[in-house]
Amino acid sequence: EKGGFASFMDKEIHDQPQAVADTLLGRTDLEGRLVLDDLRVDEAVLRQVDKIIVVACGTAAYAGQVAKYAIEHWCRIPVEVELAHEFRYRDPVVDAKTLVVAVSQSGETMDTLMAVRHAREQGATVLAIVNTHGSTIPRESDAVLYTHAGPEVAVASTKAFLAQITASYLLGLYLAQLRGTKFPDEIAESFAALRAIPEKIQQVLDAAEQVRETARSMAEATSVLFLGRHVGFPVAMEGALKLKELAYIHAEGFAAGELKHGPIALIEEGQPVFVVVPSPRGRHSLHSKVISNIQEIRARGARTLVIAEEGDEAVLPFADEVFFVPQTPVLLAPLVSVVPLQIFACELATAKGLDVDQPRNLAKSVTVE
Ligand code: F6R
Repeated sequence: EKGGFASFMDKEIHDQPQAVADTLLGRTDLEGRLVLDDLRVDEAVLRQVDKIIVVACGTAAYAGQVAKYAIEHWCRIPVEVELAHEFRYRDPVVDAKTLVVAVSQSGETMDTLMAVRHAREQGATVLAIVNTHGSTIPRESDAVLYTHAGPEVAVASTKAFLAQITASYLLGLYLAQLRGTKFPDEIAESFAALRAIPEKIQQVLDAAEQVRETARSMAEATSVLFLGRHVGFPVAMEGALKLKELAYIHAEGFAAGELKHGPIALIEEGQPVFVVVPSPRGRHSLHSKVISNIQEIRARGARTLVIAEEGDEAVLPFADEVFFVPQTPVLLAPLVSVVPLQIFACELATAKGLDVDQPRNLAKSVTVE
C-alpha cells in the first residue's frame, strides 16, 4: 500500500498534488462561482459574521495561521488563531456573530472537540475543516468543509496540512464572494491560481533530490532553526515541528522579525538555519527585510539554507544553499514552500534509521486531553 515508497510519509508527501487538486474539485458552478455544497450553513449567518476564531492543535493550527493572512486580506474579517486547549479554558469573547473554525485531520482530537463544544455553548457558529468523514468533530459542528486528502497513515501530518490550507483558502474566497469584499474577477483569479498549485508542488517533488542530499549530510545535527515572515512564519513553525517529531532534533521556528529581539543570540558558528524567503513580488518590502536577516545570521556564522522563489537571485550571495520553489501568488506560497521542509525532515529521520511513520511517543489522533 506504500506504492513503492519507503514509508507512508514519503508516499503521502508525494500524494500532495492530488490532495490539493481533490480538495478543489467540484467547488465551482458553471458560471465559475464558488459553491461549497457540503457546508450546510445558512448564508445569512455567514453574512453577519464579524469575527473568526480558528481552533486547532499542532500542524492543523499552523494551517489556521496561514488561513488568517488570506481570510483577513480577502474578507476584511478579523481572524484569531488559537490552540484549542488554550481556547477552551479561557473565557473567550464569542457570540452569535462569531464563526469558530475547527481544523482537524482526524476529526477526533479531544482538545479541538472540547473547543467546539465550548464555542457552541457560547452561541458561536462552528464550521469544521476535517479530513475524516463520519468523525466526531463534524458531527458536533454546525457546518463542515471536508478536505479530500484521503486517509493519512503516517503519524506526522503532511498531505492533510496542505489540504487544510487549501480548504481554508476556499472558505476565505467563498466568504469574500458572499460578502462582496472582492470582485468576482479577483476571486476567479485566485481560484485559478489555486488550481495551478498541484503542478507547482509536483515540480518541488521532482527537484527533491537536492534537499534529500542536504538532509542526509545533516544526520548529526543537534539543533536546526527555521525563520519565516508573513505566511512564511507558520511554514517555519511547521518545518520545525516536522523535524522534532520525526528526527528528534531540537528545532525552533521564529518570525524573522523577532530575530533581533532575542533569538539571534542563538546563532553561532555552523548553526543551520532554514530561511523561508517571501516573494520579491510581494508588497511591503518583506523580501529585502528577510534578505537582511540572512546577512545578519550569516555574518555570525550561521549555515543558511534558503527557500526562495525561482528567479530570486538576491538570495544567492548570502545562502549556503538555496532550494528554489516555483513562483506563486504571495498568499498561496505556503503550499509550495513547506514541501522541501517536509522532505528534509523525512529524509533526515530516515538517514538516522528512525521509523518516520511511527515516531516515538506520538499517536495519530490524540483522543485524550
Ligand atoms: C503533526 C501532527 C499533529 C496534529 C495534531 C492535530 O505532524 O500530526 O500536530 O496535527 O495532533 O491533529 P488533528 O488534525 O487530527 O486534529
